[in-house]
Amino acid sequence: MTKIAIVTGGTRGIGASISKKLKSSNFKVIANYTSNDDAAESFSKENNIEVIKWDVSNYDQCQKSVNKIYEDNKHIDILVNNAGITRDAPLHKMSKDNWQKVIDVNLNSIFNMTSLVINKMRENSFGRIVHISSVNGQKGQFGQTNYAATKSALIGFSKSLALESASKGITSNVICPGYINTEMVAAIREDILKSIIETIPSQRLGEADEVAEMVDYLVSDKASYVNGSTFSINGGLWMD
Ligand code: CAA
Repeated sequence: MTKIAIVTGGTRGIGASISKKLKSSNFKVIANYTSNDDAAESFSKENNIEVIKWDVSNYDQCQKSVNKIYEDNKHIDILVNNAGITRDAPLHKMSKDNWQKVIDVNLNSIFNMTSLVINKMRENSFGRIVHISSVNGQKGQFGQTNYAATKSALIGFSKSLALESASKGITSNVICPGYINTEMVAAIREDILKSIIETIPSQRLGEADEVAEMVDYLVSDKASYVNGSTFSINGGLWMD
């Protein structure tokens, strides 16, 4: 039976690499996206991966899309909670909107998506859930009280979920990437990014494929005893 994987934010950046990697491991991948139709369409054509548009911060949209995926495929075996945004500013300059938006997209989405697949995974006695957090959820970062709060919250969420569902053949693990060569990191002001790279022991950005490799392992049958864990991939920037 071909396993079905949903990758949120799965058409760009780290998510695109994860979608491609899981497809190459013979999973059927459904890549979610929210805004960039052109990027999603060309990603879908180039990689022969189904893409579906919905906003992961909106519970009703998640429910509608997940129900449709169940109708079409009968089961969902793997969920990669990858979608995330930044709205960086120090707290003393942060607007309520930029706080709320990041909480909604990075954290409320995790409840939305995971709660909509967990019951069927429990019935099927199988599930693999991977949450993409961040080094900045582990160590904090100037300008990211909103983002860091959501990314460290994923760790508590994931450990609690692992406790609740390990006996049903479900694993829940977190990956904390460091600074990865994506559009999100490229958007950091050049001089600031340069000074960040100087603090990375490996002296370079990571590649999205390096994160995808670990996701591929965590969702495999080989990883059934890996549960409630947090994995750092950050070139030595934070050793935890
Ligand atoms: N520590 C201490 N003080 C700092 C600082 C730091 N890291 N960075 C800046 N400051 C100080 C500056 O020296 C400056 O002080 P003065 O006013 O006394 O000169 C003051 O804070 C203002 O600094 P900025 O000019 O940088 O402030 P800004 O408001 O223009 O910009 C910011 C703020 C947008 C947050 C900018 O600092 C920034 O982009 N920082 C990087 C944030 C970051 O790493 N984001 C990661 C995005 S990618 C991602 O999130 C993926 C992932 O998971 C890793």
